[in-house]
Amino acid sequence: MTTQSTQQDNPQAIRQEILELVNKYYHAEFGYGEFIPGKTRIGYSGRVFDEREMVAATDALLDFWLTLGQWGDRFEKELARYLKSKFVSLVNSGSSANLVAVASLMSQQLGRKRLVPGDEAITPAVTFPTTFNPLVQLGLVPVLIDVEADTYNLDVSLLENALSERTRLIMVPHTLGNPCDIKRIVTFAREHDLYLIEDSCDALGSTVDGKMVGTFGDLGTFSFYPAHQITLGEGGAVVTQSSKLDRIVRSLREWGKACYCAHGEMLPFGACGRRFQWRINGVEYDHRYMYDNIGYNLKPLDIQAAIGMEQLRKLPEFAAVRRRNFQRLYQLFSQYEDFFILPRTLPGTNPVFFAFPLSVRPEAPFSRKEFATWLEEHNIETRVIFAGNIIHHKAYKYINYRVAGKLQHSDSVLRDSFFIGLYPGIDEQRMAFIEEVATTFLNRFGAR
Ligand SMILES: Cc1ncc(COP(=O)(O)O)c(C=O)c1O
Repeated sequence: MTTQSTQQDNPQAIRQEILELVNKYYHAEFGYGEFIPGKTRIGYSGRVFDEREMVAATDALLDFWLTLGQWGDRFEKELARYLKSKFVSLVNSGSSANLVAVASLMSQQLGRKRLVPGDEAITPAVTFPTTFNPLVQLGLVPVLIDVEADTYNLDVSLLENALSERTRLIMVPHTLGNPCDIKRIVTFAREHDLYLIEDSCDALGSTVDGKMVGTFGDLGTFSFYPAHQITLGEGGAVVTQSSKLDRIVRSLREWGKACYCAHGEMLPFGACGRRFQWRINGVEYDHRYMYDNIGYNLKPLDIQAAIGMEQLRKLPEFAAVRRRNFQRLYQLFSQYEDFFILPRTLPGTNPVFFAFPLSVRPEAPFSRKEFATWLEEHNIETRVIFAGNIIHHKAYKYINYRVAGKLQHSDSVLRDSFFIGLYPGIDEQRMAFIEEVATTFLNRFGAR
């Protein structure tokens, strides 16, 4: 135990004591979760953490730097290493990551290669709102194409038909962490000189031929909301392999500033050494307050990044549990294939699923609502597949968009599809309970 006088003299000793107490607090408050079947809620996802995240967050809080700083720099480096990506920028959500990714392609710094309002962006109709919204918000014209009924991903065979003279971008999510046919999409994008953004918000750790999703396109985005593979509370990241795009992304994240000093490089005359020699309208001007982009402020806090450092260490184990749980659920529901369309994965992919999707077949003797209600009554949480066919939502009533072909599967997803959880908080006991509850319902209609 530290004495009073030592504490007063030594901030490090006080800090150590606080961190030890936080550790103790975690075990007292969070350590002993008991599962009561039917009473304890089995979420579709949730934060999974231990004392290490709480200690790291407190450690960063005690630095009291508050805004993005050294913890952010470290997290960006670690995530880049994990993804084998050249550049990673941390932002405050996956939605912000998508906004910045689209905005970066409209930067004047890209000159004639920039996207301009009225350009078209091909994107699937089954999507998350903030995958779709930046296209609309920034004046691009979304061109909607259908998804496949069993991967929930954009149907690559429909890309050709969606092209027009104004097509400049493909904005593609890896829905629920299941990698889409990204190699064919990359080839198509190259052939037609299109930019490609991969929304990998649901797919951290998923690979195609051993390569991480999010690193195939010009830009990739990730979300660290608690439902995802790792969490920072709120948080997101934009990744790119282009130093030019990386500089633009960082500028957009931080007010549009021209200065590219890293957080640790706040030297009096900047990293460039000529902070006061830059010119604006012929006048020498402080580079710190010069603007290359029409930016935002979408930075997270250093405290979030500190939590992220611990979550990243756990990611390989989290991914392994998600994969194991996926197999368990797949085995369970494959006994009822007459009732459900099961999720399909593409050869060469190794997904880390966000959740387990199912579609109730139109000829099944029960509806999605009936099965979901049964599960919810037993405290097993369900969700529908995001927006379903997004264009049917009221928000989009007056937007400018185009549909290429029919959106038949997207409409079926809106009507018949849903998901349940497979996150690492679902342990053996919980999984066995899900199996029991689902089987009781389904066997009423005859075991298959
Ligand atoms: C595919 C996809 N994109 C973007 C987002 C938005 O991420 P966030 O909640 O961090 O803003 C989500 C959220 O779950 C998502 O599933």
